[in-house]
Amino acid sequence: MFDLVLRNGVCVTPSGRQQLDVGIVGGRIAELGHLAGRPATEVVDATGLHVLPGIIDPQVHFREPGLTWKEDLGSGSMAAALGGVTAYFEMPNTNPSTDSAERLAWKVERAKQTSWVDFAFFIGASNENADHIGELERAEGCCGVKMFLGSSTGSLLVDDPAVQKRVLESGRKRVACHSEDEARLKARKPLFEGKGVEFHPEWRDEQCAVDSTRNIIALARQTGRRLHLLHVTTAGELPLLEANRDLVTIEVPPQHLTMWAPDCYERLGTLAQMNPPIREKRHHDALWKAVQSGLVDVLGSDHAPHALDEKAKPWPSSPSGMPGVQTLVPVMLDHVNEGRLSLERFVDLSSTSVARVFNARRKGRLVPGYDADLTLVDLRASRVIENSWIASKVKWTPFDGKRVRGWPVGTIVRGAFVMRDGALVGAPRGQPVQFD
Ligand code: DOR
Repeated sequence: MFDLVLRNGVCVTPSGRQQLDVGIVGGRIAELGHLAGRPATEVVDATGLHVLPGIIDPQVHFREPGLTWKEDLGSGSMAAALGGVTAYFEMPNTNPSTDSAERLAWKVERAKQTSWVDFAFFIGASNENADHIGELERAEGCCGVKMFLGSSTGSLLVDDPAVQKRVLESGRKRVACHSEDEARLKARKPLFEGKGVEFHPEWRDEQCAVDSTRNIIALARQTGRRLHLLHVTTAGELPLLEANRDLVTIEVPPQHLTMWAPDCYERLGTLAQMNPPIREKRHHDALWKAVQSGLVDVLGSDHAPHALDEKAKPWPSSPSGMPGVQTLVPVMLDHVNEGRLSLERFVDLSSTSVARVFNARRKGRLVPGYDADLTLVDLRASRVIENSWIASKVKWTPFDGKRVRGWPVGTIVRGAFVMRDGALVGAPRGQPVQFD
């Protein structure tokens, strides 16, 4: 007896696309096949839809605790559910920072109460906890370690190579790095006084990223620690990363695959401001090549909500970051429909490889025994992304007004719908993702 059977969707399985039924029991995929006539509590017709393993966003900032007027675990996870995202990994630059066992456990308990989809949290590396990362990273709901090598939003920063090395020596989970060189960021900031946001990528220039990435890879080599390079944005880093595939995995944001400078700053001003910056077309093209060649491992939205009145401050007082968790799936499905990547490659980047990179248990594949986390998409739907659709408390998206082809129409978390036909259903049911 199945709890739920999804009938007749085109399932993206490890063996390719197949028109199959998905039978679910106890929150897990029990059987994939032709299940007509088999008893089920509920049968949902998925004819005409594609059934993907649940999309996981491995980089979001949900602002709880401390800045919950911008976002909290409830609103951020609601945005995830509406956008077809079945799990997220959340960053530690909240207030206070997630840098201790108690603070991480607090987030996990809070998310168990309020999160619509499954979740995990990064432990933030700091000068104070550098030698204790090995214990901290083993906590329930911890997906890995986050180290800010250059400063961005919040107070977390580890810019001393000696401390960076101590972090890499403590523990074994992947250390996810925000890779910009702090000394160069500081030295260059005064050069741009009185200038506009179009200089954001010049202040935080390619060399900032390349220097920082080269240095952290050298430390990873010395220590043997595996890294995950978050939001890689420059052509110059790609050869370095390619030469170190054994140690380093690579994440790229959909924003950098969809916008470029100077166009984005002309259209959106400081709404397009994020760290590391959206850069000129040369970098955009190099990132696409890296997606297409297989070099890029995963996509992460870097969902980083800031209110419109904060964004209206003159650059560089305007904060960096933009919402993204709700738009990741439709924006990338549009790229699929435009022929820039296959649906299978999108599933690899945003589900299977996220689970692989972070060793998430029972996630990322449509196979029996795995969690029944499913993202149902209508590849033919043509829709306009609008601010009014955005569930984030800040109520805006850089993609407002963009027409896309391909839309998430169902989000199933461990066997239960949390979004169906565009509406939230049920109640928050998120649980911590488990890691091997
Ligand atoms: O643009 C960004 N915003 N980059 C980051 O690294 C942090 C994020 C935020 O939390 O606002």
